[in-house]
Amino acid sequence: MTSEGAIAGPAAGGCLGGRPGGSVARAIRRALLTGDSAAKAMATRAVARDWRLGRLEFAFDAAMPDQPARPAAPELLPPNRMPKRGRGNSVRGRIALWHALAHIEFVAIDLALDMAGRFGAEMGAPFVSDFLAVAADEAMHFALIERHLRSMGSQYGALPAHDGLWESAQATRDDVAARLAVVPMVLEARGLDVTPLTLARVRAAGDERGALILERILDDEIRHVRIGANHFAACAERAEIPLANLWKTLVARHFRGSVKPPFNDSARLAAGLPRDLYAEVATPEMPG
Ligand SMILES: [Fe+2]
Ligand SMILES: [Fe+2]
Repeated sequence: MTSEGAIAGPAAGGCLGGRPGGSVARAIRRALLTGDSAAKAMATRAVARDWRLGRLEFAFDAAMPDQPARPAAPELLPPNRMPKRGRGNSVRGRIALWHALAHIEFVAIDLALDMAGRFGAEMGAPFVSDFLAVAADEAMHFALIERHLRSMGSQYGALPAHDGLWESAQATRDDVAARLAVVPMVLEARGLDVTPLTLARVRAAGDERGALILERILDDEIRHVRIGANHFAACAERAEIPLANLWKTLVARHFRGSVKPPFNDSARLAAGLPRDLYAEVATPEMPG
């Protein structure tokens, strides 16, 4: 499932200086400011491809928007106003689940684009490569889920979605270490904990196609968390602060939720997060 569609033809020859696609920052900004969901997914994969093929210049001459463009639907509601999803296997319940997953992946596209575009200048070209590859993965995850939703007779935008996911980006917009500490190492790591449970439920309900999509996403997300953890380690080293101390301080300062079990320790370890890092900051699970 990695087909990229037709590879664009070779860049026009005879360019005088620069790269044919202009600066990477402008290309990322354009994708962030694309609201329509299918168009954003396509624009994102195009930026990642153009960067990989050397068509974009390592230049940061455009600011990232504080709020990326969003499609007219879904309606965004505060988390406490979201309708209850329920756990049933009714078609409505399944659609609600996949719609919520589509929204998470849609916001993940913007989070990865913003990471590359906002912090790429200070972090360097390998960082840009890593997070544009992540953005392309998120765009693919969104497309797979959206196609699955359509097979159930629904689509992204048909239900409300919750508005809290961009908050962490806002809270960490001035500090790359804080962004890495919170977005890949808390939020995406949380995905590693919950996805196997969702996957088991989807498979038990007989939705094998859905289960395969979630398996692929879980594999990719382990890699995303690892990328985040590696760049965070480089930040800690540069700041000459022990990694665990820096991570705990930044999470306490910038993350309003709690880091809580159950943890998928093996997936977290594979992603570069050893248990002794997060177990200490975890809120204990309430008995009963
Ligand atoms: Fe994803
Ligand atoms: Fe991800």
